[in-house]
Amino acid sequence: MSANTSTPAITAGDILAQKGKTPIVSLTAYTTPMAQMMDAHCDFVLVGDSVGMVLHGLPSTLGVTMEMMILHGAAVARGLSRAMLVIDMPFGSYEEGPQQAFGNAARLMRETGCAAVKLEGGVEMAETIRFLVDRGIPVMAHVGLTPQSINTLGGYKVQGRDATGAAVLEGARAVADAGAFAVVLEKVPQKLADEITAAVPIPTIGIGASAGCDGQVLVVDDMLGLFTAFKPKFVKRYGNLGVEAEAAIADYAAEVRARSFPAPEHVFADQPAPDQTASKG
Ligand code: KIV
Repeated sequence: MSANTSTPAITAGDILAQKGKTPIVSLTAYTTPMAQMMDAHCDFVLVGDSVGMVLHGLPSTLGVTMEMMILHGAAVARGLSRAMLVIDMPFGSYEEGPQQAFGNAARLMRETGCAAVKLEGGVEMAETIRFLVDRGIPVMAHVGLTPQSINTLGGYKVQGRDATGAAVLEGARAVADAGAFAVVLEKVPQKLADEITAAVPIPTIGIGASAGCDGQVLVVDDMLGLFTAFKPKFVKRYGNLGVEAEAAIADYAAEVRARSFPAPEHVFADQPAPDQTASKG
């Protein structure tokens, strides 16, 4: 697997420096064409382990592997020249401890060219984050709803609504102290998100959190209306491409069945017309 080794224009230091200044814009991407469309508009592009649910039809992110993250990560890297590339560490690739996390994070960087990794967890991940950062790996943390822990959290519930809010805040403080350059806040009440944003010196990236976060991230297939199995409350659909794609597929199927596709302009004569000799088609 060849990595995109070009230096990204936007670095972890730039993202960190945006704290309290310009809002940080991010989306997930899993393919080269989608990454190319985002490069000019996003500060960082995340190859989220949501790829497992969105593109591979898995019921959760727990079945996502290092190989899947590397394949999609390398594809996205080929579409970026400006935006920073961050890749999720999949479930089971970092939780055993700092050494395991370093080996897998280094592999993600080596085989994709990504500039940082993201991992889920607060206080319990602080030691691992410190270990990676001290060895040259920028880390984005992720607290609140951490989808890799749905089996212990009991589902995709809002986190920190009650007394547990203090633990979410403590987790965000711990990852910031450990050297993370940013922290994703997923599905936490707006007031708690604002409190965390004010309390930590690193940017907070909200998803189902607050407009007061230092930045926002969404799953691209959700916001384009391409993923239609369900729509979390925090998703705004900026497009309805799923409906449009299905209508196009239905039109194609009808035309094939009616033998109206391919039409004369889509087929080839025995001899090319004189003005078509240079055509590649
Ligand atoms: O996997 C993912 O896409 C994420 C989100 C924060 C969008 O982690």
